[in-house]
Formats: sequence, structure tokens, C-alpha cells
Amino acid sequence: MDQGGGRAAGQAAETVKPIILFGLGGVGRALLRQIEEQRSFHRDAYDLRIRYLALCDSSGAIAAPEGGFSEALIEEILQRKEDGGALASHPLGRSYRSPEAIVDEMGKAGAVVVDCTASDSTADALLLALERGCQVALANKKPLTVDQDVYDGISRMPGRARWETTVGAGLPVIATLNRLVSSGDGIERAAGSFSGTLGYLMTGLEEGRSFSETVAEAYRLGYTEPDPRDDLGGVDVARKALILARGMGWRVEMEEVEVSGLYPERMAGLSVDGFLEALPALDAQYRKQVEAAAAEGKVLRYAATLSDGACSVGPTAVAKDSPLGRLTGTDNLVEFYSRWYSPNPLVIQGRGAGVEATAAGVLSDIVELQWSVVRGQ
Ligand SMILES: NC(=O)c1ccc[n+]([C@@H]2O[C@H](COP(=O)([O-])OP(=O)(O)OC[C@H]3O[C@@H](n4cnc5c(N)ncnc54)[C@H](OP(=O)(O)O)[C@@H]3O)[C@@H](O)[C@H]2O)c1
Repeated sequence: MDQGGGRAAGQAAETVKPIILFGLGGVGRALLRQIEEQRSFHRDAYDLRIRYLALCDSSGAIAAPEGGFSEALIEEILQRKEDGGALASHPLGRSYRSPEAIVDEMGKAGAVVVDCTASDSTADALLLALERGCQVALANKKPLTVDQDVYDGISRMPGRARWETTVGAGLPVIATLNRLVSSGDGIERAAGSFSGTLGYLMTGLEEGRSFSETVAEAYRLGYTEPDPRDDLGGVDVARKALILARGMGWRVEMEEVEVSGLYPERMAGLSVDGFLEALPALDAQYRKQVEAAAAEGKVLRYAATLSDGACSVGPTAVAKDSPLGRLTGTDNLVEFYSRWYSPNPLVIQGRGAGVEATAAGVLSDIVELQWSVVRGQ
């Protein structure tokens, strides 16, 4: 891998895009692989070369050695992470105090700090990066869903921050929202289904299967988190709804998002097996909700709804012939209603999860951030 050489005389000068990557889980590793696979495409199409300044996991970091990261070193790091190893114990690795300390040491103007962690400890690092003239790309929802002030700090300079994959993974949800907002065509209402797992569950209920049976099946098929309550609680969907609300210009805190989970508080303390065993107690309640919706020509969806300044997430009866009502299976879907998209909404639908689609979305963010660089910034 060429990390250092120039181009032959007569060819356009190559632009080097340095990145600091936090997070080498499923998404971070897929991103590294895609950057390597797309090197010749990025060079030929955009004269662009992505260069790693540092790769970091929760244990530590590996900073670029003399001459940069070789292909063999990247492969070795990927293998180590796939095997569950830690970067701090790699011969080139070291521990670090905080993500902020890494940015403080290595963040330089024009670099992109990429957050592929699932951590709430990266917000200060992202804000420091922006202060230093870096750009940021996030797959991680948490920094955008803590205090409004942090969101404001990250989103303040639109050309310097991207977080396309935080809602709907590879789907262009944020880009579409930003286009509507920037034209002045204010979004009046938005609704969406942002969990493939809960979409699968709602399709099962609509097909007449019981709640307990459908949850158990999703668990068996690996569609849920190891503890299905992490999906059924709705918090991840609430984070996505909050990111949309803030993108629409609303000033909202997480506590103001009304979240209705799909299990009662009394089941929160059970073991996973105990929880699955207790689920049939909820079957009658969900059957009734599905029947009540059907009696009105509606279907039940686990929906995020943003309307009249209120943001809510939970089981919602929607018209059967609406885009959300027609949705089946694990796809994500969002409906935007604005002045120009009314009564029929602008709709985006497709696969809303998966490490490869998410990594590809982050890679697009990095490439597009380069396009938005203002020279001398
Ligand atoms: N998977 C999807 O379909 C999808 C879709 C859209 C968005 N996302 C988001 O993308 C992010 C990554 O997802 P994932 O599936 O790759 O998660 P994951 O497999 O849990 O990986 C998280 C990675 O972050 C690292 N990490 C945690 N705290 C850190 C810190 N303080 N500094 C540096 N690294 C830290 C972890 O380190 P260790 O390896 O040392 O544990 C791990 O490598 C999440 O925020 C997720 O919500 C995922």
C-alpha cells in the first residue's frame, strides 16, 4: 500500500485525507477494509488518498509508524480485533487517557476524526477536533443525543461534520432532511420506522403470530441484541428520533422524547431466559392492540413520530395504505411531510442496519467532507 509516495509528473496532485479512527468493532473494521478496497477507485476518481493518523479501540491506540500503516499492518490489526484482542497490547500500541487526549496530540486541521464507537465518552474529543480545524464523521449516536449544547457544537459548521449513518445506517436520511431544511421548506411532520428488529416484530403481529412467539423467533435468528430488551425498550429508536428532531431545528432533550417500550418495568430485572419465558403474559394485550387498529383500517408499527413540537416513540396505529402501513419486514422507512411534500410525503426506505452498509455510509461522509473543505481552513 502506498501511504507516502507522490504521483508521476504531469498527473494531478493527490489530496491526502488524514483520519483518526475511534472504534474497531464491526463498523470500524468494515470501514478499514472498505478504505483499503477502494484505494484505487478513490485515487482514480478523486485523486484522494485516505491516510490513518491513529487507530483506536477502548484499550489504546496505534499511531502511524514511520512510513505509515502498511497493508500487512492493517491486516494484522484487523485480525487482532476480530480475535477479540486489544490495541494497547500490540507491539506498536499504547494506552491513552481519553479520546480527547488523542485528538489533542494528533488532531490537525483538515483531518477527519471518525467516531465508530458506541461510547458516550467521545463528545469532548469531537468538539476539540472541530475547535482545532478538523472535521468529524460519526456513526455513533450518543454524542448527538446528550445535551443540546453538544449537538449545537458538533453541528455548528455544516461543512465540517457528518453523521449520515446515525439514522437509517446507509440510507440518505440526514442528507435528505438537510436538503429540505436548507431550502427553507420546513418539515412539518416526520414519522418513521428505525428498527429492523421491531419492524420484523410488527410484521409478525400483523400476520397473526403472537408477541412472545415473534420475539423468541427474532431472538433465535439473531435479529435482536443479546438481551432483546435493548431493542424492545425503544431507546435506540428514541435516539434516532432525537437526532431527526434536532436536525429539523427543534431544541429538544432526550428526557422530552416520550418513549413507550414494549415490555413493562416489572420485567426489567429478569434474566434473559426468564424474560423470554414471561413474554406470553403480554400476548393478549398486543393481540387486542392489533385488532383495535385493524378495526379502523390501520396497522400497528413501532414508529417514531415528530409532530407539533412533540417527539414520541412507541407502538402506533397508522393507516394501512400509508408508506409506514405498507412497510413489512426489517427495512427502515422515514416519511417527511413539508410544504412541498404534502399530502404525499417524501419517503426513504431500505435496509437500515448492517456493518457494511454503515461503513460505506461513513466512508461517503469522509469523502464528502473532503469535497466541502474550504482551502486554508
Ligand atoms: N451495526 C450497525 O448496523 C450500525 C448501524 C448504524 C450505526 N451504528 C453505530 O456504529 C457504532 C459502532 O457500531 P459497532 O457495531 O461497530 O459497535 P461495536 O462492535 O460494539 O464496536 C465498538 C467499538 O468501539 C470501541 N470503543 C468503545 N469505547 C471506546 C473509546 N472510548 N475509544 C475508542 N474506542 C472505543 C470498542 O473498543 P473494543 O474493541 O476495545 O471493545 C469497539 O472497537 C455504534 O455507535 C452503533 O450504534 C451501527
